[in-house]
Amino acid sequence: MTRKGGAQRIVVAGGAGYIGSHVCVELLQGGKSLLVIDDFSNSSPEALKRVREISGADIELLRADLADPAQEGAVIERVAKFRPDGAVHLAGLKAVGESVAEPMRYYRVNLGATLTLVKALDAAGARLVVFSSSATVYGERNANPVPETGALGPTNPYGRTKLFIEEMLRDLQRADERWKICNLRYFNPVGAHASGRLGEDPAGVPNNLFPYIAQVAVGRRATLAVFGNDYPTRDGTGVRDFIHVEDLARGHGAALDHLAGEKKGLALDVNLGTGRGYSVLEAVAAFKRASNRDIPYEIAPRREGDVAEIFADASLARALFGWRAEKSLDDMCADHWRWQRDNPDGYGRLKPQS
Ligand code: UD1
Repeated sequence: MTRKGGAQRIVVAGGAGYIGSHVCVELLQGGKSLLVIDDFSNSSPEALKRVREISGADIELLRADLADPAQEGAVIERVAKFRPDGAVHLAGLKAVGESVAEPMRYYRVNLGATLTLVKALDAAGARLVVFSSSATVYGERNANPVPETGALGPTNPYGRTKLFIEEMLRDLQRADERWKICNLRYFNPVGAHASGRLGEDPAGVPNNLFPYIAQVAVGRRATLAVFGNDYPTRDGTGVRDFIHVEDLARGHGAALDHLAGEKKGLALDVNLGTGRGYSVLEAVAAFKRASNRDIPYEIAPRREGDVAEIFADASLARALFGWRAEKSLDDMCADHWRWQRDNPDGYGRLKPQS
């Protein structure tokens, strides 16, 4: 499936993060050479050390904040020296609640990082970007499964940065048709590397379901609050398309190879999901089975901005890239649990008090 040649030298912006670190392993195992750019604002150098261990390959690293104008010159210089064929862009802030409180910071960091990365790639003559977008770009009124042509309409500033970056990249491609762009719209990435060495290490109180469940299972938190059990779903709790982070990472390799194999520039929007939804309570039950731990929960009010149900139409990724998600909900829970159990404090960096 993987095409040889083409995009072999890849800049991975945000490569030390949860998804980025899994993408790095996948690309290194596909024989690619990487330059990671990360400021470690919400990630750890330890993750990259472990990426090197797992893959047995080296990675070049530029520690830089892509959104800081003072560092732009250094970024452009280093990227040019690396002679990339393209980039995977995962650099940005991603906490929904924080984005509501500090919208200008989200626009500055997420959009600013994109501008600098594009400028550096253009200067290096590498006009190929796979962007880490999100299903959060979809509006609330789409019927499931949601195809890429679904109505757009994020409900918070974080989601809008994802949509605006997609639009920026589409405009860039319209203005200079040499660019090859793929906006990957992730559904709900969960799980961890099967080795138990890489996983999600949220700072403070987790915002997302799986890290929260995992911290309850390991005894770091007492009770999971289930946000609403009166949705029009099979058990009343929210339904999401959870996708194993290793499947997601494979999707990036497939997207890069697909873009590299295209003769002309293009801009694509592609869902990465499994195509099926599980409810919050189904996820809790599966995690309980995988961990053999009790996961006490209580029903709490709905969380503002949540939709009842969303899952992907995942057929485009399959048609274009020959990619499909392979891992089950049980795999996601088993791998997430192994990571949490073996690394109860994540990568062990100093975190804000939780
Ligand atoms: C959230 C973000 C989305 C982001 C994505 C990244 C919101 C509204 N959306 O998606 O923008 O791209 O994370 O992965 O924050 N839940 C609980 N208790 C918890 C946490 C979550 O019951 O402690 C429920 C939620 O109500 C939801 C489901 O679990 O029904 C999944 O929540 P979460 O993991 O936060 O993902 P999303 O809300 O789908």
